[in-house]
Amino acid sequence: MKADTIITNIGTLISLAGNDKPRCGKEMESISPVHDAALAIKDGLILALGSSTDILNRFSCTDILDAKGGTVLPGFVDCHTHPIFVHTREDEFALRIAGKSYVEIAQAGGGIRSTIASTRDASEELLFQLAAQRIKKMISQGTTTLEAKSGYGLDTKSELKQLRVIKRLSEELPIDIIPTFMGAHEYPVEYKTDHERYLEILCEEMIPAVAEQGIAEFCDIFTEAHVYSIEESRRILQCAKDHGLKLKMHADEIEPIGGAELAAELGCVSADHLGTTGDQGIAALQRAGVIPVLLPATLFSLRAKSYARALPMIQQGLPVAIATDYNPGSCNCDSMPFTMTLACLQMGMSPAAALNAATINAAHAISRGAVLGTLEAGKQADLCIWDIPSLNFIPYHFGSSHLCRVIKKGKCIYSAG
Ligand code: NIG
Ligand code: FE
Repeated sequence: MKADTIITNIGTLISLAGNDKPRCGKEMESISPVHDAALAIKDGLILALGSSTDILNRFSCTDILDAKGGTVLPGFVDCHTHPIFVHTREDEFALRIAGKSYVEIAQAGGGIRSTIASTRDASEELLFQLAAQRIKKMISQGTTTLEAKSGYGLDTKSELKQLRVIKRLSEELPIDIIPTFMGAHEYPVEYKTDHERYLEILCEEMIPAVAEQGIAEFCDIFTEAHVYSIEESRRILQCAKDHGLKLKMHADEIEPIGGAELAAELGCVSADHLGTTGDQGIAALQRAGVIPVLLPATLFSLRAKSYARALPMIQQGLPVAIATDYNPGSCNCDSMPFTMTLACLQMGMSPAAALNAATINAAHAISRGAVLGTLEAGKQADLCIWDIPSLNFIPYHFGSSHLCRVIKKGKCIYSAG
């Protein structure tokens, strides 16, 4: 049988092979390593994996890629990002070091609202070029699938503009990009004192337009004491659900106001952040099958004293996922390897659990667990070749890259040096 490409001489192949479901509890410790392995690819999908001799005997192929004894892992799935904006906000970083909190900065005119005007004014071309540069950096750190949110336009025209930019990015860049509508990221300044009017615009104008254009797969919201209350969030998310959008939430990031419980009630695909979620919230997520997406780089960047309770979540059988939360304010981190480091050091996850969280569970958090996130026959050939002695080395040696190549759907899209 003919293959398009065979990757040989893989020192260790960490496939994460298993069932079709998210990895829960002890399953998150499993990495299914195979030594002296090879992998055959056809039409962007994995045909087979096994020992080098077996694969070379079974398949004929002219395109042989030598992994030079490196370690092959599934590509990272960064399932929570906000990459569509113009200017960065490093001054807020300095303010946080000087002792101001994220909420204080937002209430003093910084925060999400300070990113709105330049995003509204920007051309689609500028937003595209800026986001494309950012996403190329993510690819160079092993990200092969991305979720990207709107949410810096906060009016119908500008939110649709951001979603068109995400659509164009997904067409022109070599990775999968999953679009999420986040018109409820903040209240725009013009509706600061008239929340009701903005809620009407969201439910009567924005969500119907997004659904009609089929330009987003998910709807997300910032449910937090200083932004959208539980009642407001329920109204918006129910409307999005009625329009056929799948749901995500920024829940309990700063204060535990019942975000996790609402995510469970509404059947969100994922509940993200969960920095302050307690036992009840964890139990509710578990019962409802909501995937917790933890974003340790955000809490690190916000100088939080404590992190999301990853280990109790895993012990309760929840399929924890991790993502960067890349955005210009709370977290300017585009690195999944560094996010793994924080998952290990700050939340106590093992490197194996962090890898499952950054790949297969993250894929499930964007409804892609059946097609990517592990290396198994029939799934997309989305993988990275690393120069590392063991998986532990990725979170252990942070701040430095050990990535040799990134392969997306069987094609090399990044090569070091
Ligand atoms: O995920 N929490 C809400 N949204 C972003 C922050 C965005 C911003 O500050 O610009 C987040 O942390
Ligand atoms: Fe976010």
